[in-house]
Amino acid sequence: MVFESDNLEVVDKKIRTCELCTLANTRKHAVPGSGNIDANIMFIGEGPGKNEDENGLPFVGAAGKFLDELLQGIDLRREDVYITNIVKCRPPQNRDPNPGEIASCNAYLERQIDLINPSVIVTLGRFSMARWFPGTRISDIHGVPKRFGSRVVVPMFHPAAALYNPNKRPVLHEDFSRLPGFITEMNSEDDHEAQTVFEQLDLL
Ligand code: URA
Repeated sequence: MVFESDNLEVVDKKIRTCELCTLANTRKHAVPGSGNIDANIMFIGEGPGKNEDENGLPFVGAAGKFLDELLQGIDLRREDVYITNIVKCRPPQNRDPNPGEIASCNAYLERQIDLINPSVIVTLGRFSMARWFPGTRISDIHGVPKRFGSRVVVPMFHPAAALYNPNKRPVLHEDFSRLPGFITEMNSEDDHEAQTVFEQLDLL
């Protein structure tokens, strides 16, 4: 739709001034995303909360702290990855984003994915998961990668889930621990070899 020969900076600007849905009326700041625009791996959360709305940056509150811990656990820093959300503006009172809001934001997310071109996408929570895995339950499929063309998408619990339920902490650490292997396999120059490993995992 709105995008043609743009770059990520242009997309960011469009998001910051977006008025495609009514979340524009209540936000302080839209939150396009942050991190490495050449990242091999992209994380997609749900939507900005209070802290993110105030700062214009994703995952800067308590859930973000835990996300940092999960990244550190696999030797990654924010600068190594790209982090964004399925909706770029805070839903009032942190309510769930509705289908119309998700649809309004979809072209932005699509363009971000095209431009960053990650080989691995991690969905955090059920709203971003539903984009690739409609009709599934996160408790059934978390941590299991699925190939979509040239990318692998890995559904995971939202880090905030572990703040409410500490039993989810080791689950998230375990799911994250498999990410470096997926990145290596996807980036392997020997496509045949990568395919073999994913075949062994029964993922193709
Ligand atoms: N939760 C999200 O899903 N995204 C954020 O940016 C912050 C909290």
